[in-house]
Amino acid sequence: MTAPLDRRHPEVPLKHVRKALSHDSATLHVAGTATYIDDMVEPTGTLHVVPGWDRNSVRGQIRSVDLEAVRAAPGVVAVLTCADVPGKNDCSSAFGDDPVFADGEILFYGQVVFAVVAETRDLGRKAALLARFDVAPMTPILTAADADAADTTVLPDYQFRRGSPETGMTAAETVLEGAMLIGGQEHFYLEGQVAMAQPQEDGGMLVHSSTQHPTEIQHTVAKVLGVPDALVTAEVRRMGGGFGGKESQANQWAALAALAARKTGRTCKVRLDRDDDMIMTGKRHDFKVNWKVGHDGAGRIRAVDMEFLSRCGYSVDLSLGVNDRTLFHADSSYFYPDALLRSRRLRTDTCSNTAFRGFGGPQGMLAAERVIDAIAIQLGRDPLEIRKLNFYDGDHNMTPYGMLVEEHEVMHDLIGQLEESSEYWSRRDDVERFNAENAVLKKGLALTPVKFGISFTLKHLNQAGALVHLYTDGSVHLNHGGTEMGQGLYQKVAQVVAEEFGVTLDKVCITATNTSKVPNTGPTAASSGTDLNAMAALTAAREIKSRLIAFLCERHQCSPDAIHFTDNKVLVGDQSFALSEVAKLAHMARIQMSHAGFYATPGITWDRDTVTGRPFFYFAFGGACAEVTIDTMTGEMTVDRVDILHDVGHSLNPAIDLGQIEGGFVQGMGWLTTEELVWDEHGRLRTHAPSTYKIPTASDIPDEFNVRLYEGNGNPQDTVYRSKAVGEPPVMLANAVFCAINDAVASLVPGQIPELDAPATPEAIMKAVQDMRRRKVS
Ligand code: MTE
Ligand code: MOS
Repeated sequence: MTAPLDRRHPEVPLKHVRKALSHDSATLHVAGTATYIDDMVEPTGTLHVVPGWDRNSVRGQIRSVDLEAVRAAPGVVAVLTCADVPGKNDCSSAFGDDPVFADGEILFYGQVVFAVVAETRDLGRKAALLARFDVAPMTPILTAADADAADTTVLPDYQFRRGSPETGMTAAETVLEGAMLIGGQEHFYLEGQVAMAQPQEDGGMLVHSSTQHPTEIQHTVAKVLGVPDALVTAEVRRMGGGFGGKESQANQWAALAALAARKTGRTCKVRLDRDDDMIMTGKRHDFKVNWKVGHDGAGRIRAVDMEFLSRCGYSVDLSLGVNDRTLFHADSSYFYPDALLRSRRLRTDTCSNTAFRGFGGPQGMLAAERVIDAIAIQLGRDPLEIRKLNFYDGDHNMTPYGMLVEEHEVMHDLIGQLEESSEYWSRRDDVERFNAENAVLKKGLALTPVKFGISFTLKHLNQAGALVHLYTDGSVHLNHGGTEMGQGLYQKVAQVVAEEFGVTLDKVCITATNTSKVPNTGPTAASSGTDLNAMAALTAAREIKSRLIAFLCERHQCSPDAIHFTDNKVLVGDQSFALSEVAKLAHMARIQMSHAGFYATPGITWDRDTVTGRPFFYFAFGGACAEVTIDTMTGEMTVDRVDILHDVGHSLNPAIDLGQIEGGFVQGMGWLTTEELVWDEHGRLRTHAPSTYKIPTASDIPDEFNVRLYEGNGNPQDTVYRSKAVGEPPVMLANAVFCAINDAVASLVPGQIPELDAPATPEAIMKAVQDMRRRKVS
């Protein structure tokens, strides 16, 4: 007989959890039958909403907008402006600074001024172009450096300070300093921003939105319409990718759809054109980092001073959490005895930058790797040696913000294993030989660590709810507050619930996330979707199961130990019943077989104001070794080989986790090598389509790509089946590619630190190479 299933006893054979099962929608994705919002059958009379904006303005006072021609255009049913907002003209998450429609002023290139509601999308798009704007232009502030000079910020400066970096710097044997630019990133979700709003008979609104945060869609729509939250329901079955770009930035489109639906009484849909999507929505924050490090002459860091200037755009959006996370990760995996880590959140007249996989962490970590590389190059040592010299360990395991790195041994073991499996040292010799023999092509090699804090640093977001029903035929209805964006959350939670009820996966019916089933949720973000929602669902399943157990104990006069749920059956001593039979009997006995589960992450005590407490439940670790070749005549670069070892605790689903690791790495590699956002001198985004913005494709995957899961003792914290979050950390594995490119450039002139900015496009590589050659001559 099978022993009771208990996540605390991983030795018990598991049937569904820890299995490499495919994504619940895999066949639908491949067959093209997964329903995204734009695939839903439109109710009769559905109208289409198209945002209207001034293609000639970046920042300016609106003198007048002439919409007569727009209203008169064929197919136009209504035209909406800020005057048509019955509630509040704001779609921000918290700070009240994101107008749905421009009101008196245009704040950035691409800001929505009005919306056309038309019979078809095409007619709407044509009509939207007929508006005439009279705008008094103002000189825009565009870059972080300009905003720093003008001292315009969206939020106050913030910093972590430990010890005395001034004394540490003076005491250091050697001090190095430099500056680095780190570019932003467009999310390029395959499904663009989309929402469909259906007015209800009671004044309510049902909104289908491609969002990572259904509760915020509900709140935003209610706020904009001026109705109670309870009248608005938001639903999302799946997104075709979110990557952080639909955490707050889906709000505006849902608001527009709802306003149009309210105005016309008909179902209204907004589906952004790709160029509009790229121009209007926020991206990964780009940074200028000013860094200074003092070391002991042998490469051990004594003091660090880093200043992070980030371009936040015209409003706050999620810039508080994003920039905090940059500081939380500015140590990468290294111990800084004395540290000053400063953050400036700069206000620019550009789109409002937002969450993007890693949420500011990647930028902080890349800066730390730059510091390490600089020390290694200056000393003529291998960067990996300097990395290991500065790793957190048993004696040095306190981060600059006062949280212990409890699992430093896991980090050392993982990097050690990767060092061996990637054959780092013999390949270092090969690279040196290659570089000695080749004048034009140069190779670079780098092995970099990942340590990523898991939890929202805004404490209240670390909670989740789930709603589970057991029906009398033994089938299970599963709902929770997390959203599915391709990351496999629904599948993982379903596996956990199937395991708990001892049913086959086909008995667990996964249902769309809906604010009327599970209320008051946080966004699916910070990689914590599974940690939170699987725990909430597990709690719900356990509660229902415990009621059935109590019922059976009474009925069969047995102890709970005699009862086991497995294979769609319930074993009571040596008797076996179908779960459906038990469920029917329990129903006849008037036992409730539905439960709303709830989970709040324990142990999180971070207090931002006092800069004390524990911000993260735990860390996820990883390592990557990358080898690249650059062409010093053209700047061309190829990634020849990548080895990855990544820690997901005990994986809930190794197939999905490997997919997340591969995808995250490739997305990070795109950010650091090919994806470049270009604003012209007027502040207009010039890279707003795949023709000018280069994301990685299948052919960009390294020729040799070895990805493995780290086999350890699982998460020391009591997470669901001792798993660890996997969504974001792999992005930072791509730092290895950037550092390898830097290594290749550095090989040109020993002892000289390259001026390589991110992304390391062929152009940036060429610039760095030429700069090195100049230094060699002089
Ligand atoms: N994977 C896919 N396929 N699509 C996505 O949009 N988003 C990433 C990551 N992996 C994303 C993805 C981001 S930004 C986060 S925060 C996590 O998934 C969110 O989901 P999780 O918390 O369930 O891991
Ligand atoms: Mo992910 S950037 O936290 O949505």
